[in-house]
Amino acid sequence: MSGFVTVWLECRSDSVRRTFEELLASHRAFLIKQTGGPATVDVVCVELDEINPERTFASMKGLLEKNPAVEVLLTSGGADSQVMLEAFRIGIKEFLPQPMNRKEFDAALSRLKERLKSKEGRRSVKGGKIVAFLGAKGGIGTSTLAVNLAMSLRQLNQENQVALVDLNLDDSDLPLFLDLQPGKGFRDLARDLSRLDATFVQSLMSKHESDLHLLQSGLTGTEGTTGEPIPGGAALHTLDVMRSMYDHVFVDCGHTLNPETRETLDFASLVVLTTTLSLPSIRRAKQFLQVMRDAGYDREKLVIVVNRYQSEDAELLQHAEELFEQKVGWLVPNDYPMASSSLNKGVPLTVHAPRAALTQWYISQAAILVGDKPIHTVGVEAGNSLLSRYWGGLTFSPKVKA
Ligand SMILES: Nc1ncnc2c1ncn2[C@@H]1O[C@H](COP(=O)(O)OP(=O)(O)OP(=O)(O)O)[C@@H](O)[C@H]1O
Ligand SMILES: [Mg+2]
Repeated sequence: MSGFVTVWLECRSDSVRRTFEELLASHRAFLIKQTGGPATVDVVCVELDEINPERTFASMKGLLEKNPAVEVLLTSGGADSQVMLEAFRIGIKEFLPQPMNRKEFDAALSRLKERLKSKEGRRSVKGGKIVAFLGAKGGIGTSTLAVNLAMSLRQLNQENQVALVDLNLDDSDLPLFLDLQPGKGFRDLARDLSRLDATFVQSLMSKHESDLHLLQSGLTGTEGTTGEPIPGGAALHTLDVMRSMYDHVFVDCGHTLNPETRETLDFASLVVLTTTLSLPSIRRAKQFLQVMRDAGYDREKLVIVVNRYQSEDAELLQHAEELFEQKVGWLVPNDYPMASSSLNKGVPLTVHAPRAALTQWYISQAAILVGDKPIHTVGVEAGNSLLSRYWGGLTFSPKVKA
């Protein structure tokens, strides 16, 4: 199961609650909810009322009757066969006697995950695609690429629900590209992960007039909460919710490999590594490539993009490809006056200069992403098209450390 699993803890003692929390802490895909109750989650971990076990069984029976999809993991002070029998009779499939040990707990979780996976059809998810944009350096055009591709995609097909996420937490400027007021966003979600669901995400989205939605980084100017730590799993869980809401989610990761960026790269179906042909940028791109290869990313998951390309750079491009040991996937034409005037006005290229060569490149590339028409893509052989890469589902390599 590539998504996350929500958990409710129904414990009588603090020590059992703490044990569950500790055991779950190493499972990033499991999120303990603090609000909403047992009827709102995928898994309920429950401690048996030893004095009055019927009470626990009655409440779990009621829960399972109302929510047959929910999974219950029961723990009790001992392995009483009567208790186990009663648990199985009402539909509880996992029972762990105390003290719980990690091995048994992890085994129970993986069985549970398998069962949830087979029930996954019950969720009405859009199954949107996550594309992560990572810059080799700052100031090389990563945000321009993410914003204008997202906007071109949106304009190609109005039925496409497209969202942008600004994970450039230290230097966020996506609102500027879309002339939106800085506001709440990812940091606000991360501060209260137990509330994380589509309604909460929706309430934090900024909406551009084109109906492109933006989840801002959540910085609020100089009063911003830049220093506040982001809990592990925040980006992963946010994107998992977002892919159930949108057809395409484009994430601007900035140019640093912080934990949120890593989670995003792991989770994405496509990683777009942006570079220019300046030597410092090439060198850094090579380092990032190495990190991703070491992490076990499939080659098809990664596309290298050279921004601000000019025909006189052909030789340099060849050298860069040799160094990368991979062909460059996209070459974005250089047009600084056009790109910067669009940014300075807060108007995307498709509106600012629909006929410009740079805009046309964006529209064509967006069409390739959704498979509308095959056009030139430098260095990408037929059969290895971005179309197939993009729609190939989540390439969540097991080698990628979760
Ligand atoms: N194809 C292009 N040709 C010329 N200039 C471009 C192109 N794309 C982007 N730029 C310009 O490069 C500058 C930096 O762009 P952008 O803000 O997208 O970079 P970034 O990598 O996201 O930067 P940061 O590290 O600050 O987030 C802007 O002035 C932008 O207009
Ligand atoms: Mg940027």
